[in-house]
Amino acid sequence: MSCRITNDPTEAADAIQRGLLVALPTETVYGLGADALNPRAVARIFAAKQRPFFDPLIVHIPSAAKVQNVAAGMSALAQQLADRFWPGPLTLILPRRPEVPDLVTSGLETVGVRVPRHPLMQQVLEISGCPIAAPSANPFGRLSPTRPEHVQQLLGDAIDLILDGGPCTVGVESTIVRVDGDVVTVLRLGGLAIEELESAVPHVRIASQEIPTAPEAPGMLPQHYAPRTPIEICGADLPVPPGHTRWGLLSLRPQHAAGYATEIALSEGGDLVEAASKFFESLHQLDRMGLERIIAVPFPSTGLGTALNDRLQRAAASGH
Ligand code: TXA
Ligand code: MG
Repeated sequence: MSCRITNDPTEAADAIQRGLLVALPTETVYGLGADALNPRAVARIFAAKQRPFFDPLIVHIPSAAKVQNVAAGMSALAQQLADRFWPGPLTLILPRRPEVPDLVTSGLETVGVRVPRHPLMQQVLEISGCPIAAPSANPFGRLSPTRPEHVQQLLGDAIDLILDGGPCTVGVESTIVRVDGDVVTVLRLGGLAIEELESAVPHVRIASQEIPTAPEAPGMLPQHYAPRTPIEICGADLPVPPGHTRWGLLSLRPQHAAGYATEIALSEGGDLVEAASKFFESLHQLDRMGLERIIAVPFPSTGLGTALNDRLQRAAASGH
């Protein structure tokens, strides 16, 4: 079964107001949106994604001026980050307002908030007047969707509508940060590079990658963002596929490797921003090819390469 696809933000906004589930384009990945202040609508997000209730949702707002509708306050440093990076791929963890349902925050006293940059999503937020809770529009733990077709394929029978905003330009999820005093802690690496944060604020630390028992950000779970095909990160030498096997290769630059059934290079010129925008899309593509294994060449650890390596490691940790 499949659901309706529209180009009309008014239709999407109307559906959100009526408590329906709508897949919405953002600059990072497609989100599965519902009115954040309607607990029944939010509950349907968890059902559709088969997402555990300990995993809180990000709430999307049209501008920083609307933050007080969902958050109880913002420190001067958080405000500085919002001024610099919103709209954009940055989620701030802020003290919640009591109106935000427990289901959205998983009972935490904080709420994750973001102003997305995609023009259609901004229109939906403006027209509906609703803060929109939206996790990535994929079943829990699976590859994130960066095109409407991915959403249709992964969740088409579980949702009401897809707003088609074309392919996502950033291609990896937002960077999630918490601000304590003058320290900014990155809970999830993402579409805003660490170097950018460091250029804006003095103290940036990255939260421990250890497995928390009640994860602060389940995007930090070791097994996440996984294709169905086993994926392995290679070392300095590319492995040679044994005869009669069909392996695929994913890399930043072209490798021209022998023996692979298929090869995807994410950017001829080695541009990490271009690579990020094609990353999930390319994994979806490889995953549909019936390969026995995907070999991934690690990215340089700078800029968005850090977030891409993080996603690769979690995909590889799925251990199938
Ligand atoms: O780019 C994105 O962030 C996309 C688009 C749709 O906005 N959304 C996204 O949502 O990636 P999701 O649900 O796949 O990941 C949200 C992450 C989860 O790992 C969740 O635990 C964390 O945000 N999160 C949400 N609220 C939180 C809170 N109060 N404290 C700590 N982490 C929180
Ligand atoms: Mg997700």
